[in-house]
Amino acid sequence: MSLNPSPDEQHSLRLYGRAKGHRLRPRQANLVKTLLPTLGLPDKLSMRTDIVPDDTPLWLEVGFGSAEHLLAQAQKNPHVCHLGIEPYLNGMAKALGGVEEYNLDNVRLERGDAREILTTLPDASLDRVFILHPDPWPKKRHWKRRLVQSAFVSELARLIKPGGQLRFASDIAHYQAWALAHILDDGHFEWTAMRADDWRVAADDHAPTRYEGKAKKAGRPCVWLDFIRKHDENK
Ligand SMILES: C[S@@+](CC[C@H](N)C(=O)[O-])C[C@H]1O[C@@H](n2cnc3c(N)ncnc32)[C@H](O)[C@@H]1O
Repeated sequence: MSLNPSPDEQHSLRLYGRAKGHRLRPRQANLVKTLLPTLGLPDKLSMRTDIVPDDTPLWLEVGFGSAEHLLAQAQKNPHVCHLGIEPYLNGMAKALGGVEEYNLDNVRLERGDAREILTTLPDASLDRVFILHPDPWPKKRHWKRRLVQSAFVSELARLIKPGGQLRFASDIAHYQAWALAHILDDGHFEWTAMRADDWRVAADDHAPTRYEGKAKKAGRPCVWLDFIRKHDENK
């Protein structure tokens, strides 16, 4: 397989590690059984309004881990519907615990591979997307497993409304450069940075994540890359 896998090749690769960790506590297991099915996307999804009313912004977080950022954004932005996609069961259980604890009615959750779930969403249905500290796959032979690939960026360009936003964060220098190159190469996104602090300092609307905390403790600087989905020409 080449370093630039075709969409079919990339789809056959698993991008994440464990789908399950330690055994869930009874309360968490119960939330997975009873609450998770009520927060998923509808089975028949043909229009954005099958998910949210037209005037409700829809934000997506891919690979939310333990859900610190997702839950913080949902509390700070109650007018927004926050969709989180994560394959890791224990992370999902944390998200569900937060939804219950903070009594949130603006969160939707799907467990699985974002690359598959996103194909079910209608064009231009998302106002904002967050990809925060995706698995870095640092070895060269594993780069093809990185979430950010040309095909994935072009799927995001299909899904994010013109004028919508994409935020990518990483503490791995090679992935920072990789993501910037792949996202700009796609041609649908404009990088909003004007000065170095725009990527070196977290924006006011950011909420820190577990992996960000780990990176800071280990002395690895984080970078936040913000993009705007361009308007299509001739439209
Ligand atoms: C390094 S962790 C970062 C978690 C969190 N964003 C943070 O900053 O703390 C990467 C996360 O992405 C998830 N992930 C990996 N591949 C994914 C995929 N194809 N679709 C959705 N999530 C994925 C993993 O399960 C894991 O929770």
